[in-house]
Amino acid sequence: MYKIAVLPGDGIGPEIIAEAVKVLNSVAFGYGHRFNYTYALIGGAAMRQGLDPYPDETHQICLEADAILFGAIGDPHYDNNPDAKVRPEQGLLAMRKKLGLYANLRPVRMYPELMHLSPLKEDRIIGADLLVVRELTGGLYFGEPRELRNNGTLAVDTCLYSVDEIERIAQVAFKMARLRRKKVTLVDKANVLETSRLWRRVVTRMASDYPDVELDFMFVDNAAMQLIINPKRFDVILTENLFGDILSDEASVISGSIGLLPSASIGDRVPLFEPIHGSYPEGAGKNIANPLATILSAAMLLRTGLNLPAEADAVEAAVEETIRQKILTWDLYPANPAKTSEVGDFVAGLISADFGGI
Ligand code: IPM
Ligand code: MG
Repeated sequence: MYKIAVLPGDGIGPEIIAEAVKVLNSVAFGYGHRFNYTYALIGGAAMRQGLDPYPDETHQICLEADAILFGAIGDPHYDNNPDAKVRPEQGLLAMRKKLGLYANLRPVRMYPELMHLSPLKEDRIIGADLLVVRELTGGLYFGEPRELRNNGTLAVDTCLYSVDEIERIAQVAFKMARLRRKKVTLVDKANVLETSRLWRRVVTRMASDYPDVELDFMFVDNAAMQLIINPKRFDVILTENLFGDILSDEASVISGSIGLLPSASIGDRVPLFEPIHGSYPEGAGKNIANPLATILSAAMLLRTGLNLPAEADAVEAAVEETIRQKILTWDLYPANPAKTSEVGDFVAGLISADFGGI
């Protein structure tokens, strides 16, 4: 029996989460597990009920879970008002901070059947397979002071990193590299930023503990270019919060759609799994959103969160088969798109079928 906190969030969140839960249920059926889901509010969905974007009750539910499955955050109802005191996105940031989720893992791979969807030339992306290890609870996102000054004519954000913060995320990157092609690229702006120079010093020192892992360095502007020109040169990209946010969206073009990219956030307590895409409010309630990134996040939940690798493999294999058979939403297959729920049914059905289910 495993306890899973389910946070659908905003926009398409509830629809894509429903499909991931369907898939988890087929895994439970096949492998004889029980998943106990507790649903909780976050983001605009919580604010619309008059609650904080990350309510205490949700935090408690998360703390008691073995893993968290999260949909998306962002609600246009609260957008375009730069003076608003509270925004749905703060719920996500508060959750990351309060749960100590300092390491965000964003794997990027390409699916041969979907290669034509990438705007990049095929010879550049064949075989690309990289992992962005993004620091998630420090840097400009959280540094103090952060405020408006001088009657709103001046704004301040602060980028701050301690040795401890750098060490713990670098350790994750080195360890992940050992499970892959054993190469870490530290992406920074050490030619300009003091924080980046500290990252380089700390990570360089740590590299001697991982002699089997190759370490190199790249400035973030060049990394943005190399990701497009030669993504195959990367294995693990280790980087700070804001650079990781930007580069992981950029890297998604390798797979052809941001609707395919899952992520895991890990830290001292319970891990969280979420698609990297947003809440796509224009698509909400229409049964058209691509659920695959969330289903692949559920696979990461099984592998990393619950230590169930065979179950995770089964979900990933079912997704690959679903792609091969072209049961895909419009972003991936505009000629004959399937609905969100049809994609989820198909993936879940493949897993159940392996066990003689319906
Ligand atoms: C992400 C998102 C968030 C971030 C937003 C919604 C606050 O873009 O998870 O990448 O910037 O971290
Ligand atoms: Mg982002």
